Amino acid sequence: MTTKPCTICRGRVQEFHDFGMQPLSDAFRRPGDESQEYLFRLAVGMCLDCTMVQLMEEVDRDKMFHESYPFISGGSAGMRAHFEGVATRFLENTTGRGDDFVVELGSNDGTMLSHLADAGMHHLGVEPSAGVARLAVEKGVRVLGDFFEEESAVRIRGEHGPATVIYAANTLCHIPYLDSVFAGVDELLAPDGIMVFEDPYFGDIVEKTSFDQIYDEHFYLFSARSVQELARRHGLELVDVERLPVHGGEVRYTLARAGAREVSDAVTVMIAAEERSGLTEPATLEAFSLRVSDIRRDLVAALTDLRAQGLSVVGYGATAKSATVLNMCGIGPDLIPRIFDNTPAKQGLLTPGSRIPVVDSADFPDPYPDVAVLFAWNHAREITARETGFLDAGGRWLLYVPRVHEMSEPAPEPVRV
Ligand code: SAM
Ligand code: TMP
Ligand code: ZN
Repeated sequence: MTTKPCTICRGRVQEFHDFGMQPLSDAFRRPGDESQEYLFRLAVGMCLDCTMVQLMEEVDRDKMFHESYPFISGGSAGMRAHFEGVATRFLENTTGRGDDFVVELGSNDGTMLSHLADAGMHHLGVEPSAGVARLAVEKGVRVLGDFFEEESAVRIRGEHGPATVIYAANTLCHIPYLDSVFAGVDELLAPDGIMVFEDPYFGDIVEKTSFDQIYDEHFYLFSARSVQELARRHGLELVDVERLPVHGGEVRYTLARAGAREVSDAVTVMIAAEERSGLTEPATLEAFSLRVSDIRRDLVAALTDLRAQGLSVVGYGATAKSATVLNMCGIGPDLIPRIFDNTPAKQGLLTPGSRIPVVDSADFPDPYPDVAVLFAWNHAREITARETGFLDAGGRWLLYVPRVHEMSEPAPEPVRV
């Protein structure tokens, strides 16, 4: 297992799992395109000094975030409701102050900011992927088509003044160059402003063995402790943390300028819980890595067995996460001939590496397959509630998180942990 310098503190990052060569998780391909796919070594490690969990190799940002970046925030009712809640909170906590200004990094299709735009609030989305940015503009959202970093932050500050809130969902963990991002935050954030970001939580990833959260775009897997250290290095302070049930378990981190705000007890409690659970212990990471290998063995065995029984097996949700699973397991159209998905930009294309056709989820019942592997397991409740006819018809949902198992009833309401 190799080491590399930490992108946060320059300490030594020790690798703890190697997924092998992988394609870009959102690089869906046109059928018939035989050109060589870009591949990189997907491996993950933890910094022995600041505890930040990070990928061992970095993918060039222009390869991932561009005109045809296919993921849209508004693709699930659960996430639309989540972002409406976020916007409501911003509106409630900032009303009455004419100089309030909310900046969202990775504003994507404008699902969150459209609520602030509708309320007439001063806002700006920063979004480098032009296709999804256009969807936001069509909703009346103001967007800067660029990567957020020091240089773009200086321009935003010059044009709009300081930001009361800098918000980012499922975006900060996508950005290896956080030095530049935090220099930008320092430029842009008002003296009493807050930076709020929510990303997949490493504590959940270890607890659920949700290894498929590890892919090219998820460069960092944050914990309260590593974020506290990250903030400290940039003159900021972690003042609040909140666990969120979305995307399989996330944490919302709130940062303020050092000393500007009171630190909530939740920060101490979460860091103590991480310590108690041994989240950063080598034995924990080693055990995680072994569980991932077990899941690979069990999933391939289960699919091979279903195939041998002559049952029809499909996938549901052509998630970025599924790229890690499919390519790590070497699963292709022979084991899963198609994956259903509601994203227009993914339909008609082939999954990266594994080359499984993506088809419109509206056709899922036509006719129902025997077994569906739920790659969008983080949206289980929403999907199983819509597809109740599948179970009625004798269909079986197959999941691989936290282990390979079948779900025989619609998924329960996610609990706020
Ligand atoms: N915030 C949305 C959500 O939670 O559904 C979108 C998340 S999507 C996984 C990540 C987004 O971050 C993409 O739209 C991508 O183009 C954008 N992004 C990547 N690097 C960025 C950067 N440096 N500044 C702003 N946005 C960035
Ligand atoms: P995500 O886990 O990164 O949010 O991706 C979810 C994928 O699953 C995305 O491609 C949209 C798709 N999806 C459906 O096809 N039907 C659904 O009901 C939901 C919620 C998601
Ligand atoms: Zn470090």
